[in-house]
Amino acid sequence: MLEEVVDGLAHSQKYLPTKYLYDEKGSQLFDEICELSEYYPTRTEISIMQDNISEICDYIGYNSQLVEFGSGSSLKTRILLEEMPDITYVPVEISAKYLDNSVKELRKQFPDLDIKPVRADYTKPFDLPAVQHKHARRVIYFPGSTIGNFSPEIARQFLHLMADEAGANGGLLIGVDLKKDPKVLLNAYNDDEGVTAEFNKNILSHINRELGADFQPDCFRHEVCYNERQGRVEIYLRCIKDHQVTVGEHKFNFKEGECIHTENSHKYTLDSFAELASERWAPRKIWTDDKEWFSIQYLELKQ
Ligand code: AVI
Repeated sequence: MLEEVVDGLAHSQKYLPTKYLYDEKGSQLFDEICELSEYYPTRTEISIMQDNISEICDYIGYNSQLVEFGSGSSLKTRILLEEMPDITYVPVEISAKYLDNSVKELRKQFPDLDIKPVRADYTKPFDLPAVQHKHARRVIYFPGSTIGNFSPEIARQFLHLMADEAGANGGLLIGVDLKKDPKVLLNAYNDDEGVTAEFNKNILSHINRELGADFQPDCFRHEVCYNERQGRVEIYLRCIKDHQVTVGEHKFNFKEGECIHTENSHKYTLDSFAELASERWAPRKIWTDDKEWFSIQYLELKQ
């Protein structure tokens, strides 16, 4: 972490690795973001699922192995699991605490469900329970448009990794946020209550705690812009007064007005996502909402 943070802050455009937004507090704040009226992705994805649940289940196959990458609290997955009692559910999660808690809850809610949890960093190759005779196929589930937080190059590599993990005859059910009026996007990432601002600034408290750094979160302001050319929301912390920050043995000068880049959230068109996935995956079915703000896509591995 020290190396990554120091590296990012030494760049001419200072940045911090997005993954450090998610300590325990950050994950709680993200859950709060998902409930905000401005943050349309969660509720839109859930309503697309509810409106199309039986068709989605038909594509997955009622006796498949469903592997959720970064399962967290498996909130959206419950909608699927309720309809698919014979599926094998494999939640993959790096945090042992999150994994244990959500598996405990799922076992209470679905006592007969076959659950095979895997603790792993899903961004690197890892072993999955074997696909058995009873399974029609393995389907990777990656909801929430988390794919949008990767750069297109990393997303492309990640789509390869998911293809390798899915194996022959495999499928991918993925949530992909779509391009839309930038005003809607800017509101979604800069809510009136300031929850997203707190989420963004929490990265500094996380670094302070882990690395003994002395960031003062109040010296920064949450800022969001839409980069039309790159098709992404960009999230920054803008410094509001000249000061110095110590991280380990390193000192960094911050000038009033300069920014730390903390996150990107890429938005796709249906065509641009199909192109991104096209080396390994063919789209089979796409579900969207009336406004075409969000999509749930089922793709099949190319032979
Ligand atoms: C997790 N991810 C899909 C969120 C997004 O919309 O890019 C993270 C987020 N950052 C601020 N608000 C939400």
